[in-house]
Amino acid sequence: MINNLQSVGIIGTGSYVPEQVVTNKDLEKLVDTSDEWIVTRTGISERRKAESHIATSDMGVIAGQRAIEAAGLKPDDIDLIIVATITPDMFFPSTACIIQEKIGAINASAFDLSAACTGFIYGLAVGSQFIASGMYKHVLVIGAETLSRILNPADRNTLVLFGDGAGAAVLGPVEDGKGFLAFDLGSDGSGGNLLYLEAGGSRLPVSEETIKKGQHYLAMSGNDVFKFAVRIMGETSLKTLEKAGLTREDVDYLVPHQANIRIVDAAVKRLKLPAEKVYVNLDKYGNMSGASIPVALDEALKENKINKDDIIVLVGFGAGLTWGACVIRWSY
Ligand code: UT7
Repeated sequence: MINNLQSVGIIGTGSYVPEQVVTNKDLEKLVDTSDEWIVTRTGISERRKAESHIATSDMGVIAGQRAIEAAGLKPDDIDLIIVATITPDMFFPSTACIIQEKIGAINASAFDLSAACTGFIYGLAVGSQFIASGMYKHVLVIGAETLSRILNPADRNTLVLFGDGAGAAVLGPVEDGKGFLAFDLGSDGSGGNLLYLEAGGSRLPVSEETIKKGQHYLAMSGNDVFKFAVRIMGETSLKTLEKAGLTREDVDYLVPHQANIRIVDAAVKRLKLPAEKVYVNLDKYGNMSGASIPVALDEALKENKINKDDIIVLVGFGAGLTWGACVIRWSY
């Protein structure tokens, strides 16, 4: 329960990843890299790539429909759709509005949320407030990305890390004392220059020159983001547990943002968790930014890693810089 308001939790999840697999060996043919470097430095073996006619909304639709079905609802039961993405179909209308139309969620309002890899956690925090306050009953939160469209095919620093996919969760009222117990969200805009896409906005519209310079591609200072991530993942998780009146000993399962196995391992070490309490699928999918946590959560549930009344921590970090975590007492 959030401040004596209606308790809110996740009542259904769904996910979708494109069929096309890109292996490390495939990338060896494109840039100066090796399967050995990628596996030892990141833990990633392969990632998924959307076919050229597939956009973020197409994957978000499937993940969203699966989550609605898992929650035992119909699209017209959804009051609000929030889509966390940094790769929207277009600047506007929002990808959330495109998805709303495609799934027939005729009663839903809809908007996109930009918090990069932390977007899904931000989306859960925002969406749950509407239910806690009594304004809405069911909120669909989707994290969906087509990162392959913004990767520089010549930049080995980023090309090997990211993949495409979508995950979703339906939020709804749950029994008192279950669902979201606490959130911690943070931002530090001074780190905005560590991970960004420069051209295409109002500051630097796309031009022949920006294209020549590759400014329409994602750019990253990987090592700086790495150091930030290693620190913040443990910190924000512990802070959220404290807000919930819990300690790391209470954690039954951790679903971290899937960026790099060394970042996950650092968080796990800080939380002193055994490996079997942590979900990892970055080996198969790479970093799917806003889609990474909801896809991992959906897969963990399907593999029966999460049970009723378990204490679950979701934690992520990303461009902004942003970070966030939530503690959930699982309600089904
Ligand atoms: O969701 C948030 C998004 N961002 C992230 O999660 C990124 C976080 N950062 C990381 O995961 C790691 O910093 C990386 C995996 C990106 C890089 O690992 P690192 O241990 O921090 O390596 P580094 O950046 O210090 O680079 C080491 C070397 C460099 O060569 P020199 O300058 O030492 O000669 C890179 O050029 O590794 C080189 N390198 C590569 N070599 C082969 C960078 N990428 C590659 C590559 N293949 N794909």
